[in-house]
Amino acid sequence: MRPVDPQIAWTPHTVDLDREEFAKRLHEALSVYVTAMDYPRGTEFHRAPMWTEHSTRPGWKAVGAYAGQADTASPLIGIAYGYRGSSDQWWHQQVLHGLRRSGRPHSEISAILDDYFELTELHVHPNGQGHRLGESLLCHLLRDRTERSVLLSTPEVYDEDNRAWRLYRRLGFQDVLRRFRFAGDNRPFAVLGRGLPL
Ligand SMILES: CC(C)(COP(=O)(O)OP(=O)(O)OC[C@H]1O[C@@H](n2cnc3c(N)ncnc32)[C@H](O)[C@@H]1OP(=O)(O)O)[C@@H](O)C(=O)NCCC(=O)NCCS
Repeated sequence: MRPVDPQIAWTPHTVDLDREEFAKRLHEALSVYVTAMDYPRGTEFHRAPMWTEHSTRPGWKAVGAYAGQADTASPLIGIAYGYRGSSDQWWHQQVLHGLRRSGRPHSEISAILDDYFELTELHVHPNGQGHRLGESLLCHLLRDRTERSVLLSTPEVYDEDNRAWRLYRRLGFQDVLRRFRFAGDNRPFAVLGRGLPL
């Protein structure tokens, strides 16, 4: 893969990635993810089967951001994908558990979880951050969705002071759960959501 040039002019340029293109770009997309999240190298190898499995789920959609024109030679600079939420999914079950523990009435829980799109991943390579590529990816991904709402989880950070939080708040995402711990992960997360269309 060609290295990402930090001097490049960042014109937001996002395109749908179908399953075939997603599979071709998987390692590039995972490399963007690991670098953006500052995870240890090697994380991408554990994630590859999971991202591949996600791409088979109903309602799956992925969008990529390219540096330059979206031809096969352009490096991928950003990735976003998600799918329709469903009660057989681990993430859904975790959030359901959290909502029940928070004491929310059944009707409210149903309204949250009955018909949503899960924004599963959204990442921009650090060399491309700060140019609204994340916003472009998110808006493109959520365009024409038929679900009633979109839900996501993001790590809690002090004062909501990072680009992910600023982006979600700017786009109107509201608290669904705060300081929630997913099974097997010690970090506190927020679950955020908003109605669709954007
Ligand atoms: C979160 C992430 C995808 C956001 O992508 P991004 O392209 O960096 O961010 P945005 O699209 O929100 O653009 C941000 C910048 O655009 C500019 N901007 C935003 N709105 C603007 C406006 N109305 N007018 C002018 N400039 C604006 C600002 O400089 C803003 O930076 P700031 O938030 O630091 O002030 C990206 O930062 C990232 O990959 N972060 C690490 C991984 C991560 O946290 N992923 C999410 C996990 S849930």
